[in-house]
Amino acid sequence: MASHSVVSLFFIYISLFSSLCLADDPFVSYEFVLSYITASPLGVSQQVIAINGHFPGPIINVTTNKNVVVNRRSSWQDGVLGTNCPIPPKWNWTYQFQVKDQIGSFFYLPSLNFQWASGGYGGFIINNRDIIPIPFATPDGDITILIGDWYTRNHSALRRELNGGKNLGMPDGVLINGKGPYRYNTTLVPDGIDYETIDVHPGKTYCICVHNVGVSTSLNFRIQNHNLLLAETEGSYTVQQNYTSLDIHVGQSYSFLVTMDQNASSDCYIVASARFVNESLWQRVTGAGILHYSNSKGKASGPLLDPPNDQYDKTFSMNQARSIRYFPSSSLLLVEYRRMKIAIYFCFCHPRKNHEGNFCF
Ligand SMILES: *[C@@H]1O[C@H](CO)[C@@H](O)[C@H](O)[C@H]1NC(C)=O
Ligand SMILES: *[C@@H]1O[C@H](CO)[C@@H](O)[C@H](O)[C@H]1NC(C)=O
Ligand SMILES: *[C@@H]1O[C@H](CO)[C@@H](O)[C@H](O)[C@H]1NC(C)=O
Ligand SMILES: *[C@@H]1O[C@H](CO)[C@@H](O)[C@H](O)[C@H]1NC(C)=O
Ligand SMILES: *[C@@H]1O[C@H](CO)[C@@H](O)[C@H](O)[C@H]1NC(C)=O
Ligand SMILES: *[C@@H]1O[C@H](CO)[C@@H](O)[C@H](O)[C@H]1NC(C)=O
Ligand SMILES: *[C@@H]1O[C@H](CO)[C@@H](O)[C@H](O)[C@H]1NC(C)=O
Repeated sequence: MASHSVVSLFFIYISLFSSLCLADDPFVSYEFVLSYITASPLGVSQQVIAINGHFPGPIINVTTNKNVVVNRRSSWQDGVLGTNCPIPPKWNWTYQFQVKDQIGSFFYLPSLNFQWASGGYGGFIINNRDIIPIPFATPDGDITILIGDWYTRNHSALRRELNGGKNLGMPDGVLINGKGPYRYNTTLVPDGIDYETIDVHPGKTYCICVHNVGVSTSLNFRIQNHNLLLAETEGSYTVQQNYTSLDIHVGQSYSFLVTMDQNASSDCYIVASARFVNESLWQRVTGAGILHYSNSKGKASGPLLDPPNDQYDKTFSMNQARSIRYFPSSSLLLVEYRRMKIAIYFCFCHPRKNHEGNFCF
């Protein structure tokens, strides 16, 4: 567990409304304590960035118009690198902002110095107030899935390679919610890896929000035997369409309504595999989790479901992106809000290397 304390830079960027209308709306508070922890998501022990001891960090789950307060221990604030003055180490920094009508699912991550390659990320859900209708029935539950390529080298080592003009090479794997692959193949996946299990009930419909929090790999996301009904992306509702799999590029977020309509004769695979690469060479860059029905009769087994077989043909992915249409009604959702994205960035630094207080590492 956490050996050294970590000082952090924290930056929240909300396109426009960060200082408007703070007055009478209710507050919700989050306490973020940052640290390094040791974890072995791919079976190799390494240092990862945790929030409150957890990797990934907690989900910020708020309703529009709430004032969100994030209190950070031993931290200072910074904007986009180089744009504002840091607050010295050992100071707490409390960030306060109001979420407006950017209803949807987002994520936060450390933006500076490549630190998100070591974690520090988490989900961020903005729910509608009751008076703002959404174009689908309230789901029976929200599930956040963070997928991303992952290296067993830490962010400083990776950054050094990039600064030295080198290519990072093939990632060591794909994590799903900070965990390595289910052992779907005893040759490809070593024993003893902790994998993600999503528990669901038959007949229910969940909103499954999927974010690619990785460094550089486009991932194809799919759930065995289940249609992914796309409903929202990046804070905008879409015309609802079923996909059997969807390409999710780095930094993208998609929310799917997924109905648990299967017999539960066994658990189902959740797969995130590398795109636009030779799959047989990139086999290890595949995330595999488990969708577990409460009445499931057995474990998932057999090969993972196949990805679209077109690694040298980008038209599938482009046509897929083109097929997404925004939901036409915008009377209550206010068109200008839809284009807004929330990004929260923060950065972590070793205090001992930061006595000057103005640079990381
Ligand atoms: C988020 O909050 C809403 C409303 O308070 C709740 O219904 C929902 O289950 C929460 N979702 C998560 C992922 O905590
Ligand atoms: C920082 O915040 C924590 C938790 O709110 C509090 O216990 C501590 O006293 C604060 N430290 C300073 C220097 O303000
Ligand atoms: C990253 O890994 C290198 C070894 O490759 C190690 O020397 C360094 O201390 C690590 N840095 C952090 C921040 O964990
Ligand atoms: C496991 O993967 C290896 C390498 O791709 C393959 O040769 C083998 O057939 C797979 N095993 C099973 C049980 O699918
Ligand atoms: C999507 O697929 C589900 C079955 O999984 C079906 O019930 C539903 O009608 C489909 N929706 C659309 C818009 O095609
Ligand atoms: C579910 O079970 C029913 C009856 O046992 C069967 O007819 C149907 O094909 C099964 N569906 C699936 C998707 O396995
Ligand atoms: C993918 O890599 C394998 C192994 O090197 C090779 O045999 C195969 O021809 C490659 N596939 C394509 C489509 O290039």
